Amino acid sequence: MINIAIMGLGVVGSGTADLLTENRQLIERRLGQAVHIKYILDIRDMPDSPYSNLLVKDVKVILQDPEVSVVAELMGGSHPAFEYTLAALEAGKSVVTSNKEVVANFGVRLMQAAAAHGVSYLFEASTGGGIPVIRPLARDLAGNVITEISGILNGTTNYILTRMWKGGVSFEEALSEAQALGYAERDPSADVEGKDTCRKICILGAVATGRLAQVDRIYTEGISAIRLTDVRVAEHMDASIKLLGRMVYQDGSLYMMTAPFIVRHDNPLSRIDDVFNGVLVSGNYVGDVMFYGRGAGAKATASAVVADILALAAGEGPVCREPWREAGENVPADFANFVSRNYIAMSGVDSNAIDVIFGSVEYLPTVEGEIAFLTAPVSEREAQDNLTRLSACGGVLQSRVRLF
Ligand code: HSE
Repeated sequence: MINIAIMGLGVVGSGTADLLTENRQLIERRLGQAVHIKYILDIRDMPDSPYSNLLVKDVKVILQDPEVSVVAELMGGSHPAFEYTLAALEAGKSVVTSNKEVVANFGVRLMQAAAAHGVSYLFEASTGGGIPVIRPLARDLAGNVITEISGILNGTTNYILTRMWKGGVSFEEALSEAQALGYAERDPSADVEGKDTCRKICILGAVATGRLAQVDRIYTEGISAIRLTDVRVAEHMDASIKLLGRMVYQDGSLYMMTAPFIVRHDNPLSRIDDVFNGVLVSGNYVGDVMFYGRGAGAKATASAVVADILALAAGEGPVCREPWREAGENVPADFANFVSRNYIAMSGVDSNAIDVIFGSVEYLPTVEGEIAFLTAPVSEREAQDNLTRLSACGGVLQSRVRLF
């Protein structure tokens, strides 16, 4: 029998306890041993919880119990989750987590601590919800140079965009629905402003390259500036707007970013809707591989947490065989040099000025009072300079979305 402790009885913690309870016999049969939840750490009193008899408030109870070999850190937030994780690893317990903030901010340190104490730190549930993506990327694609990862990595924003654009509900209503369904972060601005996606692309990038970039060096833009007008222009281009986390090489430099992109309908990422996530990975031998599934929610995320617990129980070691190190100055590369085509909507300016400043552009139909166009490939620096020049001619930027 393997004894585990769960830290945090929130959405994911409850889902994990439910899965281990409901599928107990199946797990025992497949594993050849039982997985027993010995403690659940939560500072709240929850007398009505079916797990109230397992609740403890003091982390030391878990840390000092030699029978507990695996801890599932499902608390969310950086602190005290980081400190508890470090203490558990130092106490010789493996840790599995859904906490992308901790993995993205402290992954190198925690993996070093795990290695030093002969245990593992696993994080399948941190990215892509229930989609098995970390382990396949780390193991099954290990023979490839990963040349690109582009993913819809946040269920809440994808749900909001889908509900707004297909269901006609307001942004606020769609966000409330996502919160009620347990998709959103405690502070949903982390979803809407792209921080959650940024942490996840940071993690995927580290799995792919062995180098963990600093999250605050990854260009990050959310969906709050996207208008229905932009969506309609994208539809005219036979495309959808999707919030993507991306890691991509251009001219030998590794760029990382989170931003909305116009994705044409011949790309499978454009058809991923609702809470679903999709991750497109390109390897230099395998070509394109697509991962698809539920990116958030209690049950899907619990599935990934339990996958890690079962891997540990089966004696598997660390998922990343290449120890992570902190990325140097060059990763990610300076976003000012990233080249893309851009959809731009402006008011107060005419096509003469646009033609002079941007050169060859493709004009797009849009609402009265605005002019919309698609640029040729330009660097971020050049796009910004040109927009500054257009604003000096009286132009007012209404929207800008890069083309995938
Ligand atoms: N808030 C996150 C999302 C939860 O919506 O994808 C899963 O990481």
